[in-house]
Amino acid sequence: TSAAMWKGRFAQDTSSLVQQFGESISYDWRLYPHDIAGSIAHARAQKNAGLLTEEEFSQIETGLLVIKEDIEAGRFEFKASLEDIHMNVEAELTKRIGAAGAKLHTARSRNDQVATDTRLYCRTEIEGLIADLSGLQAALLDRAEKYAATVLPGYTHLQRGQPVTVGHHLLAYVEMLDRDKGRLADARKRLNVSPLGSGALAGSTINLDRRAIAAELGFDGVTTNSMDAIADRDYIAETLFATGLCGVHLSRLSEDLILWCTAEFGFVAFSDAHTTGSSLMPQKKNPDVCELTRGKTGRLVGNLMNLLVAVKGLPLTYNRDLQEDKPPLFDSIDTLKLILAVNTEMIAAMEIREERCLTAASDPMLLATDLADWLVKQGVPFRHAHELVGKAVAEAVKTGVPLDQLDLAQIDPVYTEDAKSVFNLQRALAARTNPGSPSVENVKAEIARWK
Ligand code: ARG
Repeated sequence: TSAAMWKGRFAQDTSSLVQQFGESISYDWRLYPHDIAGSIAHARAQKNAGLLTEEEFSQIETGLLVIKEDIEAGRFEFKASLEDIHMNVEAELTKRIGAAGAKLHTARSRNDQVATDTRLYCRTEIEGLIADLSGLQAALLDRAEKYAATVLPGYTHLQRGQPVTVGHHLLAYVEMLDRDKGRLADARKRLNVSPLGSGALAGSTINLDRRAIAAELGFDGVTTNSMDAIADRDYIAETLFATGLCGVHLSRLSEDLILWCTAEFGFVAFSDAHTTGSSLMPQKKNPDVCELTRGKTGRLVGNLMNLLVAVKGLPLTYNRDLQEDKPPLFDSIDTLKLILAVNTEMIAAMEIREERCLTAASDPMLLATDLADWLVKQGVPFRHAHELVGKAVAEAVKTGVPLDQLDLAQIDPVYTEDAKSVFNLQRALAARTNPGSPSVENVKAEIARWK
């Protein structure tokens, strides 16, 4: 027989297939700390409204706290017949303490309960992710500091463009991750309101002190429309967007590092602890952490799509489809946490092969733009300067003579001996002093600012 708590009007038991199809306890069990905190706050409001005696309230509170301990100790038996975390906890409480437990669901619904639980879950996890992101930023910053002055080609179209430094390149990711933290913090701010008291969809004829419940749970306030409060999942979508975009950033970082550790680039060396071998090819040392990060972050994007599509066709208010919000949410949080932990460890230990970076950055073609800038300083309009340097580049490609060794005056008399002074990497970098540019001085100042 079914253990469900809504069987009053039903003459037949629920099909076991339907139970199996509808249960969410196999994954929403992890909402238990939030579910229990919400129930205790709700019960306290019931007591304050005169609906529970002191004795009943304390039975409920103690009962719920013992259930929490039992869950933590692995002593609690979750039942699929009780569908979800809300009914599992409540049914067990009533089994243990009797009459008082049966009063707990007064003036609430699983609909406002689940919205409360998932808001609290998102809040907690967002706080953890922000701290984890700070940890990854710190690891990147440490590497950026060590290699602040290490010159590196900067690429567009994966073709060498202009010189930068490893520090500048790594700081680009520190910036992205900081905006990711900002988006998470913003989502947290908006989601931190209490839906409790919204009931199934239309509040309740029994008025509990919603603000007191909200305050006890650390919410900044209460939701202001009962239908919106239980029907929308925008706070989950925002969390999934922020985690998804963070995943996109980390995927790009992975891709950079995968390229950097090839024999062809050779800019980075990972520690043995953060690479894996081949069961066949004895020489291999593969960047699996980066590849798995690139691969797994696809799921973060998919999870956002999953939720948006689940919600888009739903009439107000609650529809059971909304139960499908949790698997993508939990997956994104779990996946991103793991990605941040492993990448932080790997990046803290990675070494840059400075001589390889310098060799690659010493390609004089990287300073073709600087040569055009030099012409501009001699009064040549930029479009004309671009053309003149283009001719020099063509000559270098044709003859195989490096750009910095050509007889430039032969190409155009505007080139004087001084033109060659352009071909000095240190000077080229040092000249890039505008805010945001990669002069070593700027990079060091940025590192200091981040620290
Ligand atoms: N397990 C449900 C969910 O996650 C809880 C809300 C159930 N509400 C209902 N009316 N069946 O959405």
